[in-house]
Amino acid sequence: MVLDLSGVRALITGGTRGIGRAISLALASSGARIAVNYRTNADSAEQFGRELGDRHFEHMVLKADITQERSVGTMMKRVEESWGGLDLLVLNAAIWQRGELGKMSLADWRETINTNLTGSFIVANEALRLMTLGESTAPKRIIFISSTSGIRGESFHSHYAASKGGLIAMTKSLAVELAPLGITVNCVAPGWVRTEMTAAALADNSTRKAIQQTIPLGRPGEPDEIAAAIVFLASRQASYITGEVLNVNGGYVL
Ligand SMILES: NC(=O)c1ccc[n+]([C@@H]2O[C@H](COP(=O)([O-])OP(=O)(O)OC[C@H]3O[C@@H](n4cnc5c(N)ncnc54)[C@H](OP(=O)(O)O)[C@@H]3O)[C@@H](O)[C@H]2O)c1
Repeated sequence: MVLDLSGVRALITGGTRGIGRAISLALASSGARIAVNYRTNADSAEQFGRELGDRHFEHMVLKADITQERSVGTMMKRVEESWGGLDLLVLNAAIWQRGELGKMSLADWRETINTNLTGSFIVANEALRLMTLGESTAPKRIIFISSTSGIRGESFHSHYAASKGGLIAMTKSLAVELAPLGITVNCVAPGWVRTEMTAAALADNSTRKAIQQTIPLGRPGEPDEIAAAIVFLASRQASYITGEVLNVNGGYVL
């Protein structure tokens, strides 16, 4: 089975680092044109843009804060002007910060919910018009990146877990809502994955060992292992899957 994404115009939020970077590379390697979004980390964005250029992947690197409607609107305008529409939206950008009930400020709660949940809504809300423009025959897909936290909760990260659970609820709602438009909506829920987000936790020997003991496959995942699931869900072969939450977590949460 060859997963060929030729002709697919894809936007990946938070696409220049970590899991988003792996998703961007995997989509481009499968033939998609990619628009890769980032917020602040210009160094990694520039470096990644150069790498994509060296590999002759058709790409754009777009700076936008997904919590800001105007910023997202400008990004979408660039996509529309360049491509005339959009086929695949991967909502990956997020933050993960510790927040203990009784000590967490309202500002901390809002920052996480605004970025992970409301930011994903803002991008999806703006993207829908582009996804229904023109006559593209490419498969139409929205893929949210949730987390095991959204399924079973996460102590000391209730704001993060609530945001990720919210994305699962959005997935199921939009799967039904957008089915008449031929757009499938799915969600990938990673467990522990080696990225900058988890670097501090995984660098500490005793914490890493404790984490590994909770994972039946005995190790954290790699970004490429998450990206592979996105390529599949984006492909024509996944045409009858919608409203699904795909666990990619080494058996950590079932
Ligand atoms: N790593 C894990 O173990 C794990 C587990 C479960 C789920 N996940 C989920 O997987 C996804 C990727 O995680 P990761 O580990 O790759 O994270 P990461 O390395 O920290 O990267 C996060 C990305 O999100 C972007 N971002 C954050 N806030 C943004 C905003 N307001 N606007 C635009 N972009 C923004 C960042 O942009 P800048 O580069 O500009 O900062 C960065 O590209 C997230 O949804 C995360 O919740 C990760």
